[in-house]
Amino acid sequence: MSDHATGNDLLRPECERIIAQYEEKRSALLPLAHLFQEHEGYVSREALRVIAQMLELTPAVVESTVSFYSLFFRKPVGKYVLQVCRGLSCSINGAPEIMAYLRRKLGIGSLETTEDGLFSYEEVECLAACDRATCMQVNLEFVYSLTPQMIDEMLAAMRAGTYPVAPMARTDSPPRTWKIEPQAQVATGRRTAGATDVPSADDPGGVGDRSGVIMLDRFVDKTAAFRDRTSERLARDPAAVLHVLEEEDAGH
Ligand code: FES
Repeated sequence: MSDHATGNDLLRPECERIIAQYEEKRSALLPLAHLFQEHEGYVSREALRVIAQMLELTPAVVESTVSFYSLFFRKPVGKYVLQVCRGLSCSINGAPEIMAYLRRKLGIGSLETTEDGLFSYEEVECLAACDRATCMQVNLEFVYSLTPQMIDEMLAAMRAGTYPVAPMARTDSPPRTWKIEPQAQVATGRRTAGATDVPSADDPGGVGDRSGVIMLDRFVDKTAAFRDRTSERLARDPAAVLHVLEEEDAGH
């Protein structure tokens, strides 16, 4: 029996207690994903399968819900997951410098883990703490008003094991990256009907990509003409989208 299977059996009573708190079983999906991540360090494929089975949902529903949130890790991660906000407020308040500083200090890029497995690093969309930009989360705990000096102190404390936030649980070794391989993207040349032309499946859009940069330009220079319109994340042709949806319906 695998470690995951053993762990799942141990978690079953707690899962059942959580499910019993809700009128509808499916409402327990996110709490269960949190529970598995807390115990295993990430939400494994096996965890998704168990959650789907306990909630009487399809694995696809569980997978699509869990993968929507940057709060859940779908692959093993480092002991400290550093997620820096690259949203609008943070970008205006110095996030690009903080991100560059962290990348240099860690020697890795977004969605990567250091060789020693201590740190995973990710640049994420708005963390909803815009009034305290620039901010980040460390193992999902907030840190506000970041400065390079704070980063140095935090990394030193994590390396020394004295950082006040507990390290992630570790049941599997983290890979060096958890980027999505292009060949794993949905059908060639087409990802989802509502998000054609997103440059990469790892890039959720927003301020960090081209459409976001254009938005930021407009925000800073209100007189700027609408130039270089982007179709990223927009359904360019409603008729084509409808066609895609009908094709998908027909395939089911
Ligand atoms: S933009 Fe960073 S928290 Fe909102």
